Amino acid sequence: MPSPDPNASCLGHDMNGHDTPAADPAPCAEAAPATPASVAPVRVIAVASGKGGVGKTSVSVNLAMSLVMAGRRTLLLDTDLGLANVDVMLGLSPRFTLADVIAGRCELADTIIEGPGGLWVVPAASGKRHMTELTPAQHVGLVHAFSQLDLPIDTMVVDNAAGIADGVLTFCQAAQDVIIVVCDEPASVTDAYALVKVLSRERGVTRVQVLANQVGSPQEGRHLFEKLERVSARFLDVTMSYLGAIPRDEWLRRAVQRQEAVVEAFPSSPSALAFRDVARRASQWQVPQGPRGHVEFFLERLVTPARSAA
Ligand SMILES: Nc1ncnc2c1ncn2[C@@H]1O[C@H](COP(=O)(O)OP(=O)(O)OP(=O)(O)O)[C@@H](O)[C@H]1O
Ligand SMILES: [Mg+2]
Repeated sequence: MPSPDPNASCLGHDMNGHDTPAADPAPCAEAAPATPASVAPVRVIAVASGKGGVGKTSVSVNLAMSLVMAGRRTLLLDTDLGLANVDVMLGLSPRFTLADVIAGRCELADTIIEGPGGLWVVPAASGKRHMTELTPAQHVGLVHAFSQLDLPIDTMVVDNAAGIADGVLTFCQAAQDVIIVVCDEPASVTDAYALVKVLSRERGVTRVQVLANQVGSPQEGRHLFEKLERVSARFLDVTMSYLGAIPRDEWLRRAVQRQEAVVEAFPSSPSALAFRDVARRASQWQVPQGPRGHVEFFLERLVTPARSAA
């Protein structure tokens, strides 16, 4: 096992010319919430997988934290309404969750909590069966509520449930970029293909980013991508890009046990380096233009499905 220095700084990475905080997480916490409501475009990145347990939440948490550490004002949404665990992974104790919003006990804004380094988190609710049984109209209602949040953020990262349930499709459809997480298991690749197929054919998603997780070597990640890309190119009208690979890393497991993001707990570990690289690349994706670049993008993209689903 490699022996990263847990105290090594991971900061100071300039992502796409944006301000970078000093080599200490504390300034992030001060910098993030201070700015008045942003009018800049908000980039929304949905993380999904098809198969469960491949690492969506790990990717979402560490991508979001890497963005925060690079000076991006970031909101992490946990939309896994059945088995939420963003809050568990980050050691947060939410007072309200999306379950309370749906039950009418609070507004969406009441659920937002400040996580490490100034990362904003909207937690979901774990183990509430009825949360997995929302109607398509309720999913759209939730997306609408997100679209009306008035927060000074640059980026939202959306952690999704596994599978191809309506809620997953809705959040992926509403995002500007979709990251599909795969790992080296046949079911992971076939389930990823199934998800991309439904997104492409039923929800008009035309491009996805593929991130290989828990790989034993960089070649393994590339190979997984090529497998998925080959079959997609044949049967689907979707552009697939390779976002990179996160190595299988014992330091990540340790960070999960410590309820911290690995990029924060063990910043020089192999997975932390890979996550920061992914975040750097994600920051270079073209900035969304026009009204869809604002938080209203959610609503704008969903207006038609919302009506037909109601
Ligand atoms: N790169 C990695 N190296 C080592 N362990 C990993 C890696 N990525 C994820 N894991 C481990 O795999 C487990 C599942 O990860 P995670 O919860 O992120 O998956 P998920 O796709 O969100 O699962 P679910 O479908 O249940 O939401 C975690 O316990 C985590 O510790
Ligand atoms: Mg998860």
